[in-house]
Amino acid sequence: MATTRHVGPHGARTLTSPVGLRNVHAMLRRPLEHLQHLQEAHGDVVEMPMLSQTWLLLVHPADVESLLVAHHPSLVRDEFAVYLRRVLGQGLLTSDGDLWKRQRRLSSTAFTPKRIRGYAGTMSAVTDRGLARIEAGRVSRLHEEMSRLTMEVVAEVLFGAGITDEDVQTVSRSLGVLNSLLTNSLEAAVRLPAWIPTPNHRRAANALADVDRLVRRIIDDRRRSAVQRDDLLSHLLNAVDEDGSRMSDTQLRDETLTLFLAGHETTSLALTHALYLLGKHPDVLRRVHAEVDDVLRDGTGAPRLPTEEDVPRLSLVERVIKEGMRLFPPAWIVGREVAKDIEIAGRRIEKGTQAMVSQWLTHRDPRWWPRPEAFDPDRFLPEIAKTRPRFAYFPFGGGPRVCIGNHFAMMEAILMLSLVVSRFEVELIPFSTLRHAPSITLQPADGGVRVRFVPRTPRRATTHVPTVGPEAITSRT
Ligand code: HEM
Repeated sequence: MATTRHVGPHGARTLTSPVGLRNVHAMLRRPLEHLQHLQEAHGDVVEMPMLSQTWLLLVHPADVESLLVAHHPSLVRDEFAVYLRRVLGQGLLTSDGDLWKRQRRLSSTAFTPKRIRGYAGTMSAVTDRGLARIEAGRVSRLHEEMSRLTMEVVAEVLFGAGITDEDVQTVSRSLGVLNSLLTNSLEAAVRLPAWIPTPNHRRAANALADVDRLVRRIIDDRRRSAVQRDDLLSHLLNAVDEDGSRMSDTQLRDETLTLFLAGHETTSLALTHALYLLGKHPDVLRRVHAEVDDVLRDGTGAPRLPTEEDVPRLSLVERVIKEGMRLFPPAWIVGREVAKDIEIAGRRIEKGTQAMVSQWLTHRDPRWWPRPEAFDPDRFLPEIAKTRPRFAYFPFGGGPRVCIGNHFAMMEAILMLSLVVSRFEVELIPFSTLRHAPSITLQPADGGVRVRFVPRTPRRATTHVPTVGPEAITSRT
């Protein structure tokens, strides 16, 4: 396997203009195309001036690994994460140093493999309830439906019975407002201070106050109640650090809001893209139907809800999700600010540089992904996957700051996708095309593709489902 760095025809630097105005403009308007273009022109290491900053983009898997794993101690959160602090406070996603280490230790107790498996029942039951509310045959936005479902799932896994439907709606509304402020607004683009009373800032302040009140009420209720629960919030509340201390109410608020925000939108994008790709590839969908119909049956042959024990048997569903996140990674770029000079790929990277890695680029690099545009879930068969460098695929990041919800999200996506496809044919509406308007996550543009959910009756699988079929499932997305 080739591991040498590729230096493009113009070397490793891009000096489109001394202050990078063109880079800023292109990153705001067409970031995916711009990054692709820069990589083609400049190779595996791209230096981009961006107003007062320098961005350094690393594309080669060895350099991605070096940044995220080996150099973790010399890095802090990038500028954007610092901007996010005004909403998320000092939660896991936005904190650094000793505070982050302590919070990561405490929060990890809620994400042990056993605890994650324990959330499976809630995930399936909430999805089941949510799917029952889908109006059969009505045209709807796929991403909106998936966001609603993952919001309900994460709300119930976090707070259990402590949250009402009305509360979920409050959170959903508020997160929508905050999300658009943090991502697509002029205020975010120029990092306007929050005290400047623009209409967007006022709306965001109200939305934040609403979620704050709600989360604090739930935490208060929980502290007063003697009932032992098994939801994520209880595990965070009960987590005790090495010195016997626990999280304060403010830390709990920051962590719960972080889990809400980080936990629902990413998973909903993974599901949206998987369903979109299945809609485009009926041959793969047929195999997925055969798998779910075979696995999700009770002793009498009647369809049933998926459980955590089914997850290992839903291996094609898992590969579809992985391949969906390769082509359309929910987190498409990850950044760090260099706090101490480091060296990567034989090059000195100075303190203050914003070092970036992009899943969008590395996941579509033909050196690791032959015919990168083709949808082929069997790339993730273990014998094929093991031939690639470790960081050719990193939808959840890597190193000490790897997504804490990684295994949670995979289980959730497998359970939810299998349930959706076993209940519905998700028909893409003709000419409703997938385009993206990337912000922190890979958001679909214009509300996303439109679909029709048509109820289906699960069938008993009569034939063996081949894992690699001669009817190769590789066609363009
Ligand atoms: C498909 C779904 C998901 C994807 C693709 C995803 C992706 C990521 C990525 C790439 C990072 C690393 C960011 C960085 O290095 O700067 C991250 C961090 C994080 N994710 Fe996820 N995530 C997903 C689901 C979840 C879920 C379900 C939760 C919680 C329930 C969650 C909570 C977090 C948190 C708290 C962090 C910060 C970790 C830290 O810095 O210590 N994520 N996620």
